[in-house]
Amino acid sequence: MKFETQAIHAGQDPDPLTGAVVPPIYQTSTYKQDGVGGTRGGYEYSRTANPTRAALEECLAALENGAKALAFASGMAAEDCLLRTLCRPGDNVLIPADAYGGTFRLFDKVLTRWGLSYGTVRQNDLEAVARAAAQRKPRLIWAESPTNPLLSVIDIRALAEIARDNGALLVTDNTFASPYLQRPLELGADLVVHSTTKYLGGHSDVVGGAVVVKDAAHAADLAFNQNATGGVAGPFDAWLTLRGVKTLAVRMDRHCANAMRVAQMLAAHPAVSEVFYPGLPGHPDHKVAAEQMRGFGGMVSFRVAGGEEKAVKVCGATRLFTLGESLGGVESLIEHPARMTHASTSGSPLEVPGDLVRLSVGLEDAGDLLEDLRQALG
Ligand SMILES: Cc1ncc(COP(=O)(O)O)c(C=O)c1O
Repeated sequence: MKFETQAIHAGQDPDPLTGAVVPPIYQTSTYKQDGVGGTRGGYEYSRTANPTRAALEECLAALENGAKALAFASGMAAEDCLLRTLCRPGDNVLIPADAYGGTFRLFDKVLTRWGLSYGTVRQNDLEAVARAAAQRKPRLIWAESPTNPLLSVIDIRALAEIARDNGALLVTDNTFASPYLQRPLELGADLVVHSTTKYLGGHSDVVGGAVVVKDAAHAADLAFNQNATGGVAGPFDAWLTLRGVKTLAVRMDRHCANAMRVAQMLAAHPAVSEVFYPGLPGHPDHKVAAEQMRGFGGMVSFRVAGGEEKAVKVCGATRLFTLGESLGGVESLIEHPARMTHASTSGSPLEVPGDLVRLSVGLEDAGDLLEDLRQALG
């Protein structure tokens, strides 16, 4: 089945009891057993498994073409469970020099205390990645593509080869692209993580995360730790996410079209010194993006010619773009990464420029969006 069909049907057969076309919200913590150990369909307690969560997990596994998916309470819960399942204290992880600030904070402030060390490398410099991997022999290479907030695109196929050559696993955060635009497991990655809060959910009304694995053996280990540590997606959150997933393909097409219009306008605007959008032919990773992605996504970042204070002013001057963190919803958002989403990277190799503004381009009329940005920049 093609992507659009899977998004609507995978894991979502009509309910066998009632015929309900939409998977019900099984808002229950526990399940009646028919005698001790006599579970119905294996359900015993909703931290371990819940039918609404199972429907979402089956759908996400299909969309990423993975062996299995696990749904978590947030993207960060998914990342934490993945890392503490696959790594051991004393291991090293190679992380990007450009990534979501919360991911950096997890490595830098939480997992270092657990004994996990990390090294940073700019991952679109493949020779630098190969050198760092040969030196450090990491347990994992952690990649994000496109990156948050600088929209670098990483050659996932090449990175997978470097990981394999050095006995490491490749994890790719596919949040910015979504499985509709990019399928890292097909390009050689071993595991994919998502903040389903973003494009998969798509409506800014739920926080969630997921891990999708290529190898079912990893799924068993992850499921054990997910149950042991408990950061699971609740039934209503799983249901909302699944409802969002059904329209992912049509939403992403419009996000891409609107973002391209916005990026082209910004590139020609005198108050903008640099635009980061992989769809622009002048973007340094444009060729890789065109090869490994179906479209260039809905995220656009740019530097404001007047410096940091001017960038902060622009963020406060839009009327349609809402000033706020997060991304991937139907409504357009604007933010200042250095003081908001990426404040935790200050003073680190992942620090972002102070004059940077990040846009999550939504599904409004493109002309209205351009007009709003022009008046804010003007
Ligand atoms: C690329 C990326 N990965 C992971 C996360 C973390 O996800 P969550 O906020 O759902 O915990 C985010 C959040 O912004 C993100 O942008």
